[in-house]
Amino acid sequence: MSQKSKVAVIGLGNIGSAVAANLVKGNRSVIVADRNIEKTNSLAEKLGSLASPSDIASAIKEADIIVFAIWFQAIKELLGQYGASLQGKIIVDPSNPIALDEKGGFKKIIGEKESAGEILASILPKNAKLAKALGTLGAATLSGAAFQKPEEAVSFYATTDKIIYS
Ligand SMILES: NC(=O)c1ccc[n+]([C@@H]2O[C@H](COP(=O)([O-])OP(=O)(O)OC[C@H]3O[C@@H](n4cnc5c(N)ncnc54)[C@H](OP(=O)(O)O)[C@@H]3O)[C@@H](O)[C@H]2O)c1
Repeated sequence: MSQKSKVAVIGLGNIGSAVAANLVKGNRSVIVADRNIEKTNSLAEKLGSLASPSDIASAIKEADIIVFAIWFQAIKELLGQYGASLQGKIIVDPSNPIALDEKGGFKKIIGEKESAGEILASILPKNAKLAKALGTLGAATLSGAAFQKPEEAVSFYATTDKIIYS
């Protein structure tokens, strides 16, 4: 990720707020956006001057790298809704294809042998690139392990695109 790339985090729940805070902690500016504007403004205020609050449409338009910190089905919807603005951009997907089940646990919402990454890759806007990242750790660990010393934490990502570097 070049220092000049603009990053937007869409969805400011557990993962989105942790990712935005980590970026700011690493001295990176970040555009934050949620469908709830009060939540957006409040997080931006808490994070300080490196965080810019935005609505979702403007954030997607302005950023080069968009982290969709929302649920799998919602990502599918937003890829369709904002397809034109997402063309040529890097889309970061932390989602797991799960939803709450009737017992308070989680169930997989795609076929046993289906891949969420492949499903999203198949509906990507033109020339957009997909990286599955930031979704292998729980939100608390994502926050707590960032910048830890002396041993740095490792976060895995997967992409089929050879030009996405960390
Ligand atoms: N939590 C974890 O530890 C964890 C770990 C690994 C991966 N993940 C993945 O990370 C993603 C986010 O999880 P989370 O725990 O951060 O969820 P969350 O706390 O529920 O936050 C989701 C955020 O997305 C917003 N949102 C929902 N639907 C939207 C839509 N259609 N358009 C715009 N914004 C929308 C929600 O807004 P509202 O508040 O208005 O609903 C909320 O701010 C999920 O895909 C999950 O599988 C989470």
